[in-house]
Amino acid sequence: MERLQKVIADAGITSRRKAEELILAGKVRVNGEVVGELGVKVSGSDIVEVDGVMINRDIVKKYYLLNKPRGVISSVSDDKKRPTVVDYIDTEARIYPVGRLDYDTTGLIILTNDGSLANLLMHPTNKIPKTYIAKIEGLLNKDDIDRLRSGVMVDGKKAYVENFKIRDKNLEKKTSIVELTIVEGRNHIVKKIFEALHHPVIRLSRIKIAFLEIGNLKSGEYRELSIKEVKKLYSLK
Ligand code: URA
Repeated sequence: MERLQKVIADAGITSRRKAEELILAGKVRVNGEVVGELGVKVSGSDIVEVDGVMINRDIVKKYYLLNKPRGVISSVSDDKKRPTVVDYIDTEARIYPVGRLDYDTTGLIILTNDGSLANLLMHPTNKIPKTYIAKIEGLLNKDDIDRLRSGVMVDGKKAYVENFKIRDKNLEKKTSIVELTIVEGRNHIVKKIFEALHHPVIRLSRIKIAFLEIGNLKSGEYRELSIKEVKKLYSLK
């Protein structure tokens, strides 16, 4: 038997605290009955609904690391029938991506059916570092570098870059390759940072999430995370 709020959080719907609020707001049903109070425990065979939708109660948790190709959507399904990251993984588990990479961004993305881990990795207070390689228009000058060091204003809020280095410059084509690590999770954040600096991103790839590196995963390939890696991810909280 497990606490109802944990079961809801594990399904990836929301955090445990918010699950408690949903329960108290009368939005959670167990076997068709509204619960409305905390402290209820459920077994694997109980049917749990949140806002009228039955939640995913996969008992076996699965964790995958995919090297997402370009032209793939970071979601479970797509109205326009474009390929999604889930299509790449051969599993019966109801997995979903942790966060998103843009349609045209390549690189590492975690997929899991473990909502607790997904919440942990996406929660801003846990400051999970993600490293990207960006090919950008132009060459960075001193002012650009100072702005990258001190934080770049994006949509009215500063975006901080933890670390960056210029990996390469093409003086003829006037493009640069920059490696940068950020901890925040706003959508399109890398593209917006470089847009603010007037150096639009031409190509973007994520090469590292926390300690997980791309290694020899080719585009479209994936691997399961080891138990040790999953434990290490949990320890980042
Ligand atoms: N930042 C972006 O701009 N795009 C991504 O896909 C990821 C981070």
